[in-house]
Amino acid sequence: MSDHIRAASSPSRHGSEHGWQHAVTPQQRNRILVATWMFTLCFMILVMVMLGGATRLTGSGLSIMEWAPLMGTLPPASQTEWERLYALYQKIPQYALVNHGFGLDGFKHIFWLEWTHRLWGRLIGLVLLLPLIFLVVTRRIERSLIPRLILIFVLGGLQGAVGWFMVASGFFPDSTAVSPYRLVIHLSFALLLYSALLWTALSVLNPEPRPLSGTVGLRRMSAVTLVLVCITIIAGGFVAGIHAGLDYNTFPLMDGRLVPEGYGEGHRAMFENIPTVQFDHRLLATLTALTALLTGLIGFRRGGNARRAVLPLMVAVILQYALGIATLLSVVAVPVAVVHQGMAVLLLTAAIVTLHSLRGAGRTASINAPASSH
Ligand code: HEM
Repeated sequence: MSDHIRAASSPSRHGSEHGWQHAVTPQQRNRILVATWMFTLCFMILVMVMLGGATRLTGSGLSIMEWAPLMGTLPPASQTEWERLYALYQKIPQYALVNHGFGLDGFKHIFWLEWTHRLWGRLIGLVLLLPLIFLVVTRRIERSLIPRLILIFVLGGLQGAVGWFMVASGFFPDSTAVSPYRLVIHLSFALLLYSALLWTALSVLNPEPRPLSGTVGLRRMSAVTLVLVCITIIAGGFVAGIHAGLDYNTFPLMDGRLVPEGYGEGHRAMFENIPTVQFDHRLLATLTALTALLTGLIGFRRGGNARRAVLPLMVAVILQYALGIATLLSVVAVPVAVVHQGMAVLLLTAAIVTLHSLRGAGRTASINAPASSH
C-alpha cells in the first residue's frame, strides 16, 4: 500500500484530515518532479500538434526540402543560402502548381512556419532526453519506469522520421500536398506518444487506483469513449488529408441530404472519397459525443468522485463538436481549424484522465487492496 493511500485511510496520523499533504516524502517529491517533466512534454506536444495544423493549413509543410536534424536547426544566414533553398523549392510540383512566381518573400513566409515546427520538434527531443539522463543518473526515477521511458524516447525519435516520410510524399510528381495516409500516421504517432506520456505521468502521480465501488460499468463506458475519440481523430485526419472540409459546408445536411450523394462510391471510398470521408467523420463524432455524454450522465448520477471524473470529458466533447461545426461552416478558416485540431488533443486528454481516475472501479476501500501496475 502506498503512503498516499495509507495516509488517506488514517488521516489522524498527522493531526488533520489532509495532514498527509504536508508530509511529503523525498519519494513523493521525486514523483512530482517526474510527473511535472512529463506534463511539460505533453504540453509541448499539444503545441506541436497545433503548429503542425497551422503548417498544413497554410501550405507551408513542403518548404524545406532537406532533412538535416542537426544542421537544419539554424535558419539561413545569408542571401545566397535563402536563394539556394528557394531554388530547391522551385523544383517541386507544389511550386509550379500552387505558388508559381510568389517570389523569395512568399517563400520566406511559408519557410518560417515549417522551420518553427521542426525546431519545436527538436526542442521536444531535448526536453525528453536531457531530464531523462539527469533523473536516471541522480536516481530520482523508479527503475521500473526506465524501460517505458526509453520506449517513449524511441517513439519520439521515430516520430521525427515519420514526419520526414510524410513530407517526402509531397515531392512526388504532380503532388501538391502530402499523402493523407502518411499524414494520419504522423498524427497518430504524435498522439500515441502523447497518450503514453500522459498515462505514465498520471500513474506516477497516483500509483494506487482510488477505490470506487459499483462503477465498473462507468469505467467500461469511459474506455469505449476513449476508443471512439481515437477513431474520430483518425477520421478527422483523413478529412484534413484530402481537404474534405472545403466541400459540403452546411450542417447537419450535406447538399440538402442527410447522407450525401456519391457516398461510398469508388475505390477506397472510406479514405479517399470526399462525401464519404466527411460523412463518416460527422457520424463518428456524433457517436463519440453521445457516448461521452451518456458516460457523463452515469457519472453524474453516481455523484462524488465519479462526477468529478466525468465533468471535463463532457465539457471537452461539447466544445470539440461545436468547433468541428464552426470549422466546417467557416470553410476551414485557419484559426478555427487549428483550435479544432488542438481541442482534439484536449478531448483525448479528458478521456484518458477520466479512464485513469476510474481505474479503481470495482475495488472497495480495503487496506489489502492490491498495488496497481502503471
Ligand atoms: C468528437 C468530435 C471530433 C473530433 C475528436 C474531431 C477531430 C478532428 C481532428 C483531429 C481533425 C484534424 C486532423 C488533422 O489535421 O490531421 C479534424 C478535422 C476536421 N473536422 Fe473534426 N472532430 C470532431 C468533430 C467534428 C464535427 C462535429 C465536425 C463537423 C460537423 C468536424 C469537422 C471537421 C473538419 C471540416 C475537419 C477538417 C479541417 C482541416 O482541414 O483542418 N469535426 N477533426
